[in-house]
Amino acid sequence: MTAGVCGEKLEGAIDVTIFCFTGTGNSLFAARKIGGTLVSIPQVIDAPTEYADDVIGFVFPQYGMGLPKMVRSFAAQNKFVSEYAFAVSLYSYIRGGALTELASLVPLDYGAKLKSPWNFIWAFGAPRDAEKSLRKCEASLDKIAAEIGSRRSKAVKPSTRVGSATKFFSDNKFKVSDACVKCGLCADVCPAGNIEMRDKPEFLGKCEMCFACANLCPQSALNSSKAMSKHRRYRNPAVAPSEIAAANNRRAGR
Ligand SMILES: Cc1cc2nc3c(=O)[nH]c(=O)nc-3n(C[C@H](O)[C@H](O)[C@H](O)COP(=O)(O)O)c2cc1C
Ligand code: SF4
Ligand code: SF4
Repeated sequence: MTAGVCGEKLEGAIDVTIFCFTGTGNSLFAARKIGGTLVSIPQVIDAPTEYADDVIGFVFPQYGMGLPKMVRSFAAQNKFVSEYAFAVSLYSYIRGGALTELASLVPLDYGAKLKSPWNFIWAFGAPRDAEKSLRKCEASLDKIAAEIGSRRSKAVKPSTRVGSATKFFSDNKFKVSDACVKCGLCADVCPAGNIEMRDKPEFLGKCEMCFACANLCPQSALNSSKAMSKHRRYRNPAVAPSEIAAANNRRAGR
């Protein structure tokens, strides 16, 4: 199996390689729906190369109006050769400049922003009506997948709303509560290899801010404040924790 492959092509799906980054499963879910061979960005980030396929795509969440750090590095350090290139950037409330940032690094024929449930539970909790929001997300996704399938052109518009999430959070804000049962799931789902299981999970200072650890912890034991400990958690219900772990664990795909 190719390094980093975290999902096989579905029967009848268009012939495409999709590079995916996810925290809580929304982007993985979207990438699967579009179809193709899914490659986990965290699992290939350390091996820059040239990728070539008929169609190449990128599916990732927007962080703080811009690209996740790892997606930015991945786009900048590899070469992509394709007849058609697309990107789908997931967001929840504010459409920012993640796509614009990617388009400045990789030429894109098509870019779409996909509204999806909120997972940045440091700021506020996941929505009560995540199921409703997911139904809308799926309907938009069907349209996007059909447009990509017919190789539609959709230019990425310039955006002045390009930000950097790294400015306002770092993993030293996470505290591990006594509720921790040392199951290790937080370390398994971390796309940065940033959590080491010692007596309890320890953070190594290279956080990507995906919030997989805090959202997926079965004990809600990872919080930065009392307020955050009360925030509702989120995981895309169609993507199991084991699937996020398989896609994100840095030990896999090597
Ligand atoms: C650190 C961080 C920053 C985020 N910034 C934004 C943002 O600028 N605008 C927005 O609408 N959603 C933002 N979100 C929400 C995610 O983009 C959204 O929940 C996405 O669907 C998560 O995808 P995933 O499940 O694949 O991780 C942010 C989430 C995180 C964790
Ligand atoms: S996922 Fe939660 S309970 Fe499990 S080791 Fe991590 S912090 Fe502890
Ligand atoms: S430490 Fe947590 S928030 Fe940071 S990259 Fe790892 S899983 Fe994501």
